[in-house]
Amino acid sequence: MARIAAGADHAGVHLKGVLVAHLRELGHEVVDCGTHSADRVDYPDFGEAVARMVAAGEAELGLCVCGTGIGIAMAANKVPGVRAATVHDVTSARLTREHNDANVVCLGERLIGAEAAREALDAFLSASYEGGRHAPRVAKIDALLPSER
Ligand code: RB5
Repeated sequence: MARIAAGADHAGVHLKGVLVAHLRELGHEVVDCGTHSADRVDYPDFGEAVARMVAAGEAELGLCVCGTGIGIAMAANKVPGVRAATVHDVTSARLTREHNDANVVCLGERLIGAEAAREALDAFLSASYEGGRHAPRVAKIDALLPSER
């Protein structure tokens, strides 16, 4: 069982709730970083909260939900050590764990149904990083410097 940080904006709060309940039923420990209501909030705040927990080793994995799963992934990926991936189905969820060693999975409540999201999350959790030929590529991702402004 894993310790998983979960976060969402207002557009993902319902699906987050469904998935957090599912994870807890499976026996995982979930740290819910919010949001907790449908009041409008900014998705980068919750992507950052999840990502910082993962980067600090306070959570093994992260789950992020926003309307598309894209913006919150962009925010999470700004935190060094985090590899956040937006997934849409079982296959993309499995492959990003196996090939990219993704440590944060991102879903879009406006784009995917709850059942498909649950299946994708299960696939993400069941898969393992393959290493091997993927290792130098993942190392290159991690070695990229933050963009300068
Ligand atoms: C919020 O309206 C929406 O923009 C956000 O949830 C997300 O889809 C951004 O990527």
